[in-house]
Amino acid sequence: MSGQASLEKGGTRLIIIQADDYQDMSQRAFQFIKNKIEKTPVLKLGFATGGTPQKTYELLIEDFQKNGTSYKSIISFNLDEYIGLSKEHPNSYHQYMEQKLFQYIDIEKENIHLPNGVTTDITKECLNYENLIEEKGGIDLQILGIGENGHIGFNEPGTSFDTLTHVVKLAQSTREANARYFSNIADVPTHAITMGIQTILKSKEILLLVSGENKAFAIKRLLTEDLSIDFPASALKKHPRVTIIADKLALSSVTGLVESR
Ligand code: PGA
Repeated sequence: MSGQASLEKGGTRLIIIQADDYQDMSQRAFQFIKNKIEKTPVLKLGFATGGTPQKTYELLIEDFQKNGTSYKSIISFNLDEYIGLSKEHPNSYHQYMEQKLFQYIDIEKENIHLPNGVTTDITKECLNYENLIEEKGGIDLQILGIGENGHIGFNEPGTSFDTLTHVVKLAQSTREANARYFSNIADVPTHAITMGIQTILKSKEILLLVSGENKAFAIKRLLTEDLSIDFPASALKKHPRVTIIADKLALSSVTGLVESR
């Protein structure tokens, strides 16, 4: 049975929706995003990559094909991109978004934004990306995943909560987790450009998607530990509008906290 709870602790409030499994998490995430699309005339939507949102994106495509939900007025921003991978590289997040979502919907090419991982002036790229988000009026809804080490975007443990879009050195554990998409771990880039934690917190609303037993410890830390830069996702507790949709396996270490109701 699925349920909903809110965790209020030290002035923070997180809405937690328990989904039965990955399929159910994806279905709920899809519905959440579709509602925003329908309600917001020019939605600035922040996308995430990784395994977690893939099914959600499939459901958005299916809905577009069946019901014609339009993305023509949507402005998109992605969280991050690997440094050194061109837009055409099959493992770049540009390609991920193209292959998993954008090519199937009617989003306008000029409204799609991801950091450029192959620029010669990376400092300027970070600044421009941050400014662009501001110029467009800020992100209305940011979709997020969480790393096993608590990273959000590519903000690894130790990242200041004040960071804007910046360059990061990827944690070895992150490179290992992402090696499944590459032919070998040596090919996984060592650095990335990512929205900073402050950039993410500036979004008006955040939707965190979590699935699987390998995320159970991260969710437990998020829901039970205090704010700490050692656990980047804890910064989300500073934000007033965070909804977490997590499946049972991801919530298996915090069963007492999320009651069905
Ligand atoms: P995943 O990645 O969705 O592939 O688990 C999430 C993340 O690392 O932020």
